[in-house]
Amino acid sequence: MTTFNKDTYYRDHWVEVEQERVDAYQELFRWRPEMDPLLAPADIREAHIVVDYGCGPGGLSVELARRVGPRGHVHGIDLNAQFIALASQNLSEEGLADCTTFHHVSDDRIPLPDGSVDRLVCKNVLEYVPDVSATIAEFRRVVKPGGKVHILDSDWGMLVVEPLGHEKLAELFAAAEHAYHTPRIGRILYSEMKKAGYTDVAVKILASADTRGRSALVLHNMVNYAKTGGEIDPARADAFYAEIRRAIDEGTFMMILPQFLVTGEV
Ligand SMILES: C[S@@+](CC[C@H](N)C(=O)[O-])C[C@H]1O[C@@H](n2cnc3c(N)ncnc32)[C@H](O)[C@@H]1O
Repeated sequence: MTTFNKDTYYRDHWVEVEQERVDAYQELFRWRPEMDPLLAPADIREAHIVVDYGCGPGGLSVELARRVGPRGHVHGIDLNAQFIALASQNLSEEGLADCTTFHHVSDDRIPLPDGSVDRLVCKNVLEYVPDVSATIAEFRRVVKPGGKVHILDSDWGMLVVEPLGHEKLAELFAAAEHAYHTPRIGRILYSEMKKAGYTDVAVKILASADTRGRSALVLHNMVNYAKTGGEIDPARADAFYAEIRRAIDEGTFMMILPQFLVTGEV
């Protein structure tokens, strides 16, 4: 792994992802039917050309490709070369290779012409980009007039993790915060979209309670980010995670991380 640099870690930890995390993300990001409400406002239709910005291993790209069908096209874009290779492989295995193209990018430009796509979807990525306003403007550049940009993101200031309670969670998150460029992204998306000139900007918040520990990976990552930064005693961070695991085993765990869905027209 690249030497730790607190100022660039939010990006570095995506450029190089440990194999264990890659495997876990494959599972975590797989599209499941209960996720359909997350995509509904994007109004994806047959034959649409769609960008999946920050596509990861392609879980959402698979669903988008199914929706646009053989007359449409999905462009998956990501910073991580391994995710791009995996996404390509996953879409091939699903028989969807012909209507997808995956692009590995190393800057925040989209390698597509102005006004060339019907929809751009960006799920849980904007918290990691270095300049949110510039990226939202870049999204607008590639979408056709009348097309839509649909952004989904968390707001880590609204995270609830029981059994940790407010104080321990705040301590853990403060130590891990360097892993996110804009951790409270959710609450600023509406104004950022309005400032960038989108029309009909609509906001929805979807929140569900994970009581089974499905999102434990997110907390495991947070503990590792915190330990990497050196601002918490690693044994204390591990003890927090052990408390979380115990609560999962005992059936008392609950995690809530609201998702902001912000959709605007170009
Ligand atoms: C939390 S994952 C979300 C993956 C996928 N969108 C999903 O929800 O299933 C964040 C993704 O954003 C990518 N990413 C981070 N910063 C990026 C940037 N500046 N440009 C493009 N992709 C980026 C990461 O490599 C990773 O695949």
